[in-house]
Amino acid sequence: MNNAIEVNDLTKVYGSPGSGVRAVDHISFEVRQGEVFGFLGPNGAGQTTTQRMLTTLLEPTDGRILIFGHDLAHDAYPVKRQMGLVPEESNVYTELTAWDNLMFTAQLYRVPRSKRARRAQELLEAFGLWEW
Ligand SMILES: Nc1ncnc2c1ncn2[C@@H]1O[C@H](COP(=O)(O)OP(=O)(O)O)[C@@H](O)[C@H]1O
Ligand SMILES: [Mg+2]
Repeated sequence: MNNAIEVNDLTKVYGSPGSGVRAVDHISFEVRQGEVFGFLGPNGAGQTTTQRMLTTLLEPTDGRILIFGHDLAHDAYPVKRQMGLVPEESNVYTELTAWDNLMFTAQLYRVPRSKRARRAQELLEAFGLWEW
């Protein structure tokens, strides 16, 4: 069985390769399917940079990322369809209502029109947000 995540020699240099900031320096690790994985380190160690590369928001300088066997460098689309991300910040559009956020997200995920409203209500009620 594939690992959920496989990272090999992942590296990120911000700025020019010679004089830039080496934020991530040849790290390798694996996360098994179903495993809960805590990725910890001191401030500035490169956790956020690594997460941004794992979620295709940032392009690595070097190294390889496989998600369920798909190489993110040239096979990112199936990975994006499977991936869920709850960021610390910027996780909703604050200019939209809770309802409109869910309708928009449902469209991005191609939830059929006939199911969007019911699913949105279920979720908003489950999370105590229906009145908002
Ligand atoms: N956009 C950027 N441009 C230049 N340097 C950055 C950028 N983002 C982060 N860094 C630097 O990369 C290093 C790792 O940052 P980051 O991944 O945010 O660390 P962590 O999330 O582990 O605190 C730090 O030295 C940080 O200052
Ligand atoms: Mg961080």
